[in-house]
Parts: sequence; C-alpha cells; structure tokens
Amino acid sequence: MASDAPHPPRPLLELVDVEAGYGRAALVLRGLTVRVPAATIVCLVGPNGAGKSTVLKVASGMLTPRSGTILVDGVDVTRNGAQDMIKSGLSHVLQGHSVFKEMTVAENVGLGAYTVRDKALVAERTDFVKTLFPIVAERWGDLAGSLSGGQQKQVEFARSLMVSPKVVLLDEPSMGLDPKRTTAMFEQIVRMRDAGIAVLLVEQNARRALETADIGCVLDLGRVHITGPAPELLADPRLAELYLGGRPAVPTNAAAGA
Ligand SMILES: Nc1ncnc2c1ncn2[C@@H]1O[C@H](COP(=O)(O)OP(=O)(O)O)[C@@H](O)[C@H]1O
Ligand SMILES: [Mg+2]
Repeated sequence: MASDAPHPPRPLLELVDVEAGYGRAALVLRGLTVRVPAATIVCLVGPNGAGKSTVLKVASGMLTPRSGTILVDGVDVTRNGAQDMIKSGLSHVLQGHSVFKEMTVAENVGLGAYTVRDKALVAERTDFVKTLFPIVAERWGDLAGSLSGGQQKQVEFARSLMVSPKVVLLDEPSMGLDPKRTTAMFEQIVRMRDAGIAVLLVEQNARRALETADIGCVLDLGRVHITGPAPELLADPRLAELYLGGRPAVPTNAAAGA
C-alpha cells in the first residue's frame, strides 16, 4: 500500500479486545481496545483504580492478558514477556518510580541502554536524548538527586528512549509535580511526539493531559467508553461531569468533584 495514502497510518500499537486482571480477582480490563498511531499522543484517562496502569502493564509485557491481541507495527506480540516487549519497541515509564538519586544523570540514562549491545547506537541515542532534553545534557555529570522533580522526570524520559522505542508508555508522569512543573513536563512529552515517538499516556490528571494529547480515551468499567480528538473530549459534557471535576466545560450548578 502506498505510504502517501491519504488515510491515517497503521497504528504502531494496538490493544484489541484485551481482558486482563490479577489472579482470581474480577477482571480489570474487560474488552479494552486502544490504538496509538505514529507520532501521536494518546491519553487514557480515568479515575483512580480504573485500570490505567493495568493497560500499560499489559502493553509492556508485565502482565499477560487473559484474552485479546497486542500488535506492534502490525506484529502480534501478545505473548511477549517484558524483555521481548522492549525488543518489540515498547518502553514503559512506571508510575511513581523515579531516578536513582545517588547515581549521576549519565548513569541513570545509561541504565536505559543496558540491553543495547551496539556501542555506536548507544552513543547515537545519548546524543538524541541530550538534544531532546537539554537539562539532561546540562546536568549530565550531577547526582540525579540534586535535580528538581520535573528535571528528574526528564531523566526518566531520557532513560526510556535509550532503547529506540516505537511507543513510550507513560504512567502518571505528572504525579508529585506542582502545576508549573506539570506544564513543563507535558511540554517535554510534546517534544517526544514531535521527534516522531508515539506516546500512550495514562493520567488521573485528565484535564491537563487532554490539553496535551492528540487523542483521548476514557476508561470506564474496563473498556474505552468514549474516544476522540482530545479537544473534543475536553468539550464533552459527559466527560466534564464524570471525570474532569471542578471546571466543567458546560456550566452546571454541581459542586467541584474529585
Ligand atoms: N498487583 C496487583 N494485584 C492485585 N490487584 C491489583 C494489582 N494492581 C492493581 N490491582 C487492582 O486492579 C485495579 C486497577 O488498578 P490500576 O490499573 O492500578 O488502576 P489505575 O492505574 O487506573 O489507578 C484496582 O482495583 C487495583 O486494586
Ligand atoms: Mg495507576
């Protein structure tokens, strides 16, 4: 098929009809479908406990789905474990984790390349992440613990890009950041997208995330309940009522929600 065809490119990551859960407990994901096109930020929003992290765990091979299919660039990787998912092109920035504070920025970023044998490629990726995240280059020799929370998040992003991923999975990157640093952090995600990387972002901070994302998906009862261009979701009164809280797009008399 011609690559300059006018229709959207094949998604880089597809989770199709995924069912997943933990042990004998009830399923968390109940037929979830999400597609992430190239160079696009797809944001999955939903309240605490909705299953957002579970979606990323399934995508990165940390959790095997009960049923459904995972495709990367059209290749079925459903049964891949975590190491093979990295080789397939998925890199996962975990929720709540951070840098190793007693190690330098360089050492932290270098850890992301521990599976990469090709030294020339490691050097090339190092240059790439230093260019993409100037603060990483500036603070290269400093202890990671001496950086601000937002700067440490950039070190994590840089680390995740060392494996040349097709898709980066970001779990609640705004967690623990104040509003100003959250804005700066979302700008870094846009820079990743503009560098050609596809991003699957999950956030409880729905409004801020949808202001950044290209496509939004609302997770409800283990499925994607509403999906569409992020600006449309922001203006969708159902979403304002259900998830965004505080400042609904359509004025109501309801008190500020969660
Ligand atoms: N390791 C686990 N073992 C058992 N249950 C889990 C585990 N991780 C998450 N859960 C449960 O799965 C559901 C979804 O969790 P999670 O995906 O972390 O939600 P979110 O990221 O949207 O807050 C919750 O009910 C949570 O308690
Ligand atoms: Mg979570």
